[in-house]
Amino acid sequence: MTSRPVLTLIAAVSADGFISTGTGVPWHLPRDKEHFRRITRGQWLLLGRRTYEEMTGWFEDHHPLILTRSPVYVPPAGEIVSSVAEALMVAAAGGARELFVCGGGEAYAAAMPSADRLILTHVDSLLGSGVPFPTVNSAEWLQTSRQDFQADSTHAQALYFATYERLKPPAQPPGGAL
Ligand SMILES: NC(=O)c1ccc[n+]([C@@H]2O[C@H](COP(=O)([O-])OP(=O)(O)OC[C@H]3O[C@@H](n4cnc5c(N)ncnc54)[C@H](OP(=O)(O)O)[C@@H]3O)[C@@H](O)[C@H]2O)c1
Repeated sequence: MTSRPVLTLIAAVSADGFISTGTGVPWHLPRDKEHFRRITRGQWLLLGRRTYEEMTGWFEDHHPLILTRSPVYVPPAGEIVSSVAEALMVAAAGGARELFVCGGGEAYAAAMPSADRLILTHVDSLLGSGVPFPTVNSAEWLQTSRQDFQADSTHAQALYFATYERLKPPAQPPGGAL
């Protein structure tokens, strides 16, 4: 039997919860780019069709899956899927142990209910409006790592990298609930 890959959302999020103003990512943070590239190198990725088109030409040794409702969309690289469940099945069949959801907002929203792990870059910036990242309910997630960086000559904003693991609900006692 093929087991389901770990489903990880990887995103850079402003302090007020947005990933974009609606016209691309609004900050220039080489440290975050390097972090994203290092983690996703050679991995199975799930991207909303809009984000995929913004990232055209970026894919090298990755396995991109493109989330779209169009059955006739032909991506220059990778293959299309019509749901997160299908993406997990395709990635599992390809031998993936982890599937990284790389945005954008609609793709994160579709994947959040099934997510096991979040890798977030928290950017010290207020956007006010734009494309939101789904709410992270602190009762459901445990922060397992955090690494802080101050603003500097090449980073206008301070940021921190954080990883969160979903807290599993306690197993039912044998015989089910009382
Ligand atoms: N800060 C970050 O970490 C980060 C990361 C990635 C992207 N972004 C930003 O996010 C923005 C784009 O986000 P977005 O929400 O507009 O678009 P998106 O999630 O990238 O793509 C939306 C498209 O995905 C498909 N889709 C969405 N939900 C679906 C579902 N449940 N089933 C099947 N297909 C589905 C649809 O494609 P079709 O129309 O083809 O059917 C939809 O138009 C950009 O500004 C980008 O720069 C930020």
